Amino acid sequence: MTDRLLTSYRITFAIALGALTASGYAQTILPSEPSEESEACLECHAEETRGIYEEWGTSKHFRGNVGCFECHQAEESDPDVFDHNGFAISIIVSPKDCARCHPKEVKEFDESHHSKAGLILGSLDNFLADIVEGDTKFYGGSALTVSGCKQCHGAAVEVNKDGSLKPTGWPNTGMGRVNPDGSNGACTACHQRHAFSAVQARRPENCGKCHLGPDHPQREIYEESKHGIAFATYEDALNMENAKWVLGEDYTAAPTCATCHMSATRTSRGNLVPVTHDVGMRISWNNRPAVSIRPEVADKKLGLTKGAKVNWKTRRRNMTQVCSVCHTSNYVNNFYEQYDGVVNLYNEKFAQPGVDLVALLYEYNLLSDIQFDEQVEWTWWEIWHHEGRVARHGASMMAPDYTHWHGLYEVGKHWYSKFIPELKELVEKHRDSDDPTKAKGAQKLENAINELLNRADHSWYLGKLDPKEEAKRKQAQEEFQKRYDN
Ligand code: HEC
Ligand code: HEC
Ligand code: HEC
Ligand code: HEC
Ligand code: HEC
Ligand code: HEC
Ligand code: HEC
Ligand code: HEC
Repeated sequence: MTDRLLTSYRITFAIALGALTASGYAQTILPSEPSEESEACLECHAEETRGIYEEWGTSKHFRGNVGCFECHQAEESDPDVFDHNGFAISIIVSPKDCARCHPKEVKEFDESHHSKAGLILGSLDNFLADIVEGDTKFYGGSALTVSGCKQCHGAAVEVNKDGSLKPTGWPNTGMGRVNPDGSNGACTACHQRHAFSAVQARRPENCGKCHLGPDHPQREIYEESKHGIAFATYEDALNMENAKWVLGEDYTAAPTCATCHMSATRTSRGNLVPVTHDVGMRISWNNRPAVSIRPEVADKKLGLTKGAKVNWKTRRRNMTQVCSVCHTSNYVNNFYEQYDGVVNLYNEKFAQPGVDLVALLYEYNLLSDIQFDEQVEWTWWEIWHHEGRVARHGASMMAPDYTHWHGLYEVGKHWYSKFIPELKELVEKHRDSDDPTKAKGAQKLENAINELLNRADHSWYLGKLDPKEEAKRKQAQEEFQKRYDN
């Protein structure tokens, strides 16, 4: 009993300390020695799991006498508690556990999209991994979902009777992991154990585990951008190893993902923009749905009550304070106009019309209710989920190749060479249907296609480009040909 009391005294002390250090990092009133319990862990673990022991030894936790037991201790009521050589511990150290010493970071994380990243059940992506690409032979589920989606998004961690963890949810450091204690998230998504380092989390590779690939290539986009080039060139000038890492005070040579989205900035006017663990607080669009929406709208839908009250203008202002250390306001405002221009172009020319056309298909039974059993469903999916996102993501972070060749070029190509022809095939197929709903749907669809294609932004396809524009382009083309052809 006295041991327990002693421990809780030590923890309380550490809480106060965590609160102190998290804010300033200047104070170093740390417990003068490790707890007896943690000493006991080390007796075995210094040899048993040498890598873990050594990494912990490099960490600030080691220097602060935050040992194995301070993190791994568990209450008898925890679903994943087990007796381990006389100690009540659990394997998972959840954000709730970290919150004992880092309440601010955990609160901000809890209020962010990242903490909700596990809520993917029911999405079309999920149908792909569970059903189209998967089967149900892995503990009743899809092996692919466990090793794919959930390694980024987070699994529900399931516990065996003896406290060991099931392979359905462990190993897993997905962002929105659902932990046995009911909390959401894995701080290890960014702070790898057991170094738990801020330095490692600041690096672009860190975000790149998840933010890459055909549907959200932020890592590749960053590498193409001048910001990524500056990072690759001047990395040594960034003082990445500093405990304090404030843009404008400790470095100015290049921004990393963390600089723009999370880390602290001292503006030229002397304002301090603090570190945030809510990655949504500096973005003014959510470009993941087919048609972009504002982040406060997305937050409201997810039940993020704090974010629902912070409008996009405030968030954009937060971000531009970061830019302002390296750019003038005119430069930055013009950039945002360019970016908004691409978002609006894509949304108005392709995304909203696409959403409306596809809605007709289901409304009038021109497609079956089964997802992905018909070609046009794949075509439309790739247009919005891959190519349309990439175009917007490219424009948002200054990567012209992604904005154009991987982005709107692919959208345009698939729109005119697949999507529209496939819709027209459906019109032909159902035009004379015995089912009056389908026949009516075919008519409606044909009208909608015609109306759309006759719009100024699509009418080139019908050969109806404005004659003045046509003449201007022809002249430019002839001049270009003279230069280009031999
Ligand atoms: C008597 C030796 C011994 C002591 C004391 C000990 N451990 Fe272990 N621990 C082990 C061994 C052995 C393993 C299993 C290693 C393996 O499977 O490779 C292990 C495994 C673990 C695991 C992983 C369990 C799993 O199933 O993945 C955790 C977490 C852990 N120990 C934490 C602790 C903590 C915290 C303490 C101190 C409170 C501690 N250990 C004390 C020997 C010990
Ligand atoms: C700052 C908190 C913290 C401290 C201190 C800490 N751990 Fe961990 N440990 C974690 C987290 C977090 C995980 C990963 C589980 C997760 O993602 O929730 C983990 C995982 C583990 C695992 C299972 C991982 C594997 O690869 O098998 C073992 C074993 C373990 N810790 C042992 C130790 C030992 C031994 C010490 C002391 C030398 C220690 N831990 C100190 C937080 C901590
Ligand atoms: C018992 C208290 C305690 C617990 C529990 C705890 N920490 Fe810490 N943490 C500290 C202290 C103390 C420091 C060091 C502050 C300093 O040196 O300025 C620290 C520092 C950190 C840092 C900054 C490291 C750096 O490189 O600057 C990170 C990141 C961190 N902890 C993450 C975590 C995570 C994630 C968890 C849960 C898995 C966790 N901590 C659990 C007390 C704790
Ligand atoms: C490589 C890591 C990774 C894998 C694998 C992955 N995702 Fe994602 N997913 C992400 C990231 C990162 C985002 C957010 C992208 C952004 O912000 O632009 C995302 C976004 C999403 C969204 C949109 C969420 C929202 O709030 O709009 C859904 C739904 C989704 N993923 C489901 C899935 C499903 C289901 C799978 C498996 C078929 C999967 N993802 C596989 C990383 C991944
Ligand atoms: C999306 C990645 C990401 C996740 C997830 C994340 N962190 Fe961090 N964390 C960072 C970055 C980046 C920094 C470094 C900020 C800096 O110094 O510029 C940081 C810094 C910290 C620090 C040092 C204090 C500070 O303000 O610099 C602590 C403590 C910390 N994180 C705790 C946590 C805890 C606890 C969790 C889980 C709730 C967590 N982090 C989850 C990226 C992350
Ligand atoms: C383990 C995977 C993973 C890592 C690592 C990761 N993210 Fe994410 N991130 C996601 C997923 C998944 C989402 C989409 C969450 C949702 O809305 O459902 C997301 C969403 C975001 C968003 C959109 C937030 C919003 O409010 O709409 C931003 C910005 C972001 N991440 C930035 C970062 C940065 C910066 C880092 C590195 C410091 C990082 N992420 C590391 C998986 C990850
Ligand atoms: C120079 C600053 C800067 C850097 C560096 C940067 N970003 Fe961004 N990021 C932005 C801006 C600006 C936006 C668009 C914000 C808005 O919508 O207002 C954005 C948007 C995002 C989004 C939201 C995507 C969505 O679906 O709407 C994610 C996720 C993201 N960035 C992740 C990253 C990752 C990962 C890295 C590093 C590989 C990174 N960013 C590097 C400035 C930056
Ligand atoms: C740490 C300094 C730094 C920060 C912070 C920063 N940038 Fe930059 N940015 C640069 C440098 C350096 C270049 C390269 C300028 C050049 O020579 O063309 C650049 C280039 C650009 C370009 C031109 C891209 C091109 O290909 O010509 C744009 C647009 C831009 N930044 C916008 C922003 C925005 C918006 C933000 C904030 C979200 C931001 N930057 C934050 C340093 C920074």
